[in-house]
Amino acid sequence: MEQLSLFKFPIEGYLVEHFSADNLCPEKARRSLEKHFSEVLEITEKFNRQSVSYQLSKKDVLHSWLKYKEGFSADLVNNLLDEMKISEGEIVMDPFMGSGTTALVCQMRGYNSIGYDIMPISSVSINAKANTLKYNLSEIKKMINEFKTLEMPDTYSRITPFVAITKGAYPKYTERFLAFIAEWRDNSSYSDEVKNLLTLCIINTLERISYTTKSGQYLSWDCRSAKVQEVNAIRKAKGQKPLTAKYVRDTIHEAKDTILAELEHVAGDIELIQQNSVATDARIDFIQNSALYEIPKLQDSILKGVITSPPYCNRYDYTRTYALELVYLGVDENTLKKMRQDLLSCTVESRPKIDDLRAFYTSIGQAKRFNYIYEKVKSNKAFSEVMGALHTRKKHGDLNNNGVIRMVEGYFTELAFIYAELYRICKKGAIVAFVNDNVRYGGEVIPIDFISSSFAEQFGFKVKKVYSLKQRKGNSSQQMAKYGRVALRKSITIWEKE
Ligand SMILES: C[S@@+](CC[C@H](N)C(=O)[O-])C[C@H]1O[C@@H](n2cnc3c(N)ncnc32)[C@H](O)[C@@H]1O
Repeated sequence: MEQLSLFKFPIEGYLVEHFSADNLCPEKARRSLEKHFSEVLEITEKFNRQSVSYQLSKKDVLHSWLKYKEGFSADLVNNLLDEMKISEGEIVMDPFMGSGTTALVCQMRGYNSIGYDIMPISSVSINAKANTLKYNLSEIKKMINEFKTLEMPDTYSRITPFVAITKGAYPKYTERFLAFIAEWRDNSSYSDEVKNLLTLCIINTLERISYTTKSGQYLSWDCRSAKVQEVNAIRKAKGQKPLTAKYVRDTIHEAKDTILAELEHVAGDIELIQQNSVATDARIDFIQNSALYEIPKLQDSILKGVITSPPYCNRYDYTRTYALELVYLGVDENTLKKMRQDLLSCTVESRPKIDDLRAFYTSIGQAKRFNYIYEKVKSNKAFSEVMGALHTRKKHGDLNNNGVIRMVEGYFTELAFIYAELYRICKKGAIVAFVNDNVRYGGEVIPIDFISSSFAEQFGFKVKKVYSLKQRKGNSSQQMAKYGRVALRKSITIWEKE
């Protein structure tokens, strides 16, 4: 691995001095990790906050087709691939594909990729983008022209499907228009690729044409929605004050024009890319399933690199924030709930997966491998220290949700299984890059980057670098008021199978 940056910034200020606020809990194991990995910690400006977030993709042709705020940028993937020295035809993996940034950049550079995601949004996004050089542009233009002429009859009465948390998310006309367009698309004779492209354009508009906005753990609702108005009517009847008026955006956009603008933007990008790019033979293999249950089935020593960002350990619930898109793609109430549990444990609702994992490994004849990994997980000192500290914090009344304990335990346990499996399926010399954020709960700092790196070492990886972005993560106002400010790194950990 070459050095990523010529100018190094001092690491002081990026190392944690006190892991446990008010010295309530032991912190020896975390301190010892901090010392151990400070040797490979590098503060860098090569990657910045925009490159590990969606912001840079907004300007990118192709990568802007789906507003996926949790995505990283094509720039970040390009930078990491430059460091990895991969030859054409080799395989790169992204176990948590999201909008598919890693796979698409790999495809453009001629590298094959494999990856997973539990959400169908990924499949729509990756298929739409991976076909860019294959689309027949005149077919897309024909579809756009026909779309412009569409008029929904006044008598049309179907509405787009909904689940409890999305009920009433759109103005009445839009509810019907979305159903009308879906029916038109499904009955049309356009190719499956062009239909999928239209689907992507529609899901990329849903938030803007709705009364909702994505706000981390859930959808936040506009005061013009029937849902908020009904709540306020009940409050009024009880003599309570109405909820504070909240406008998620000035205008709730009109569906047809918004979808049309999206289609025209995407068609423009396709034209540009088709004129300026050369097709590669690279394949993208995407499977819509949990990485936890797919990677163990792969054979040893097949990967040359991994570039990924798992869900962060921050209570962010993808199945709630992407509820509109998931439901539009046909996910019903029960499937949505199951998907929530399939997420790597990253919400306070996550239930332990360890028994299912044991049963799964046994079913594929790998009970021994399960035991080997699980024993390592249980022997990790910093992880045990964090779990002990969170239990103490619970008794002390410092956790505002006790589900945090289960989340953190599941998070590290499941990620450790992923790390162990990645080691097994990597070739010698393969580089693994994980983007992640450190967190703090109940006054306890959890160094996700270093604990993950210590698991990586336990499974055999050499920890080459931990890049920390110059801009650190802010603390939540609650935690800051109660426990003061601490440096929370946003890191890219780089491991090598030597
Ligand atoms: C931080 S996002 C990845 C974003 C991606 N790097 C991009 O540029 O779009 C994490 C993704 O992991 C997915 N995910 C969560 N649990 C998963 C699991 N068990 N297996 C596979 N994917 C999962 C989520 O649905 C989400 O899309």
